[in-house]
Amino acid sequence: MSGKPRLFMTRKVFDEVIDRLREKFEVEVWDRYQPPPYEVLLEEALKSDALYTLLTDKIDCSLLEKASPRLRIVAQMAVGYDNIDVECATKYGVYVTNTPGVLTDAVAELTWALILAVTKRIVEADVFVRWGEWKRLETGWHPMMMLGVELKGKTLGILGMGRIGKRVAEIGKAFGMKIIYHSRKRKEDVEKELGAEYRSLEDLLKESDILSIHVPLSPETKHLIGEKELRMMKPTAILINTARGPVVDTEALVKALREGWIAGAGLDVFEEEPLDPNHPLTAFKNVVLAPHIGSATKETRMKMAMMAAENLIAFSEGKVPPNLVNKDVVKIRPPGFED
Ligand code: NAP
Ligand code: GLV
Repeated sequence: MSGKPRLFMTRKVFDEVIDRLREKFEVEVWDRYQPPPYEVLLEEALKSDALYTLLTDKIDCSLLEKASPRLRIVAQMAVGYDNIDVECATKYGVYVTNTPGVLTDAVAELTWALILAVTKRIVEADVFVRWGEWKRLETGWHPMMMLGVELKGKTLGILGMGRIGKRVAEIGKAFGMKIIYHSRKRKEDVEKELGAEYRSLEDLLKESDILSIHVPLSPETKHLIGEKELRMMKPTAILINTARGPVVDTEALVKALREGWIAGAGLDVFEEEPLDPNHPLTAFKNVVLAPHIGSATKETRMKMAMMAAENLIAFSEGKVPPNLVNKDVVKIRPPGFED
């Protein structure tokens, strides 16, 4: 290839990261706060050798098929890659990379922020003070005021015992909780380390006081938690989702909250993002909402941005990128931009 390969970045990230990428690529950055519309993404993909993407960019088979004669790699700045048709990418010899591990602590901490916010009624309490209800009631301290839920001795259920699920479980252990989990495979290391116990999905739903979801979004996990599953939960249970919105059937969740099948929810992810402020979920006092900020710490976002860049740089040097998702792609095309 004569000259540097062209890289299209679908959003601006840290200057240090872009400068590092400029050493190896001709970099074009989509500079707006909103994601590029699909037509723009397609137009840019057609004239690029590499894409730097976010989870809001739809990289479907039609785009990959059209762009793949030139496009060689899609480097996602996220651990989840359900926005990318990975099977199709492999078929057309396009490498797909992600950013696992560096965001585990940030997401686990945010998960715990939601667990604590719901069980200790933190958002409600803030509004109570801020909007004068506390003052209006003239009750400095009342034995029955704003009673929440204690965590020690309760059962924390982890759905998806991977990197984030394990870290959430470790913190739960420090709170004195019993840990149960469901995953596709049993995790003997976690069972040994944390005394965590494996459960079928049904038993996990029935026994958990806090059910925290950490599975990736896939055809198998879409609406994994629907009406049937929510009806199995305890009426005192709290559902936490920091994985992907479509893992939970939103309509069923709204019904569950309205009819008291469960006691509350903490949600960082939604079937439709951004969530409409008039969505029924915004009407519940026992639901705490966040705008998909699981990995949103300065430290983590910098690590994610640099990791995505390093995957691109390794590929440009003819190396298999360290965080390759579709391992079989190496059989279709070797790494690098040379033909
Ligand atoms: P991970 O290490 O791959 O863990 C995912 C776990 O889910 C794996 O242990 C896997 O089980 C399990 N799993 C997959 N399909 C399952 C199924 N059908 N039933 C039961 N368990 C299943 O991934 P991670 O790094 O922890 O990330 C998890 C997810 O969190 C990401 O995919 C992403 O969607 C989400 N996330 C959200 C945010 C945010 O901002 N809110 C940030 C980062 C990540 P096995 O090991 O048994 O195969
Ligand atoms: C964020 O949601 C991620 O998957 O990294």
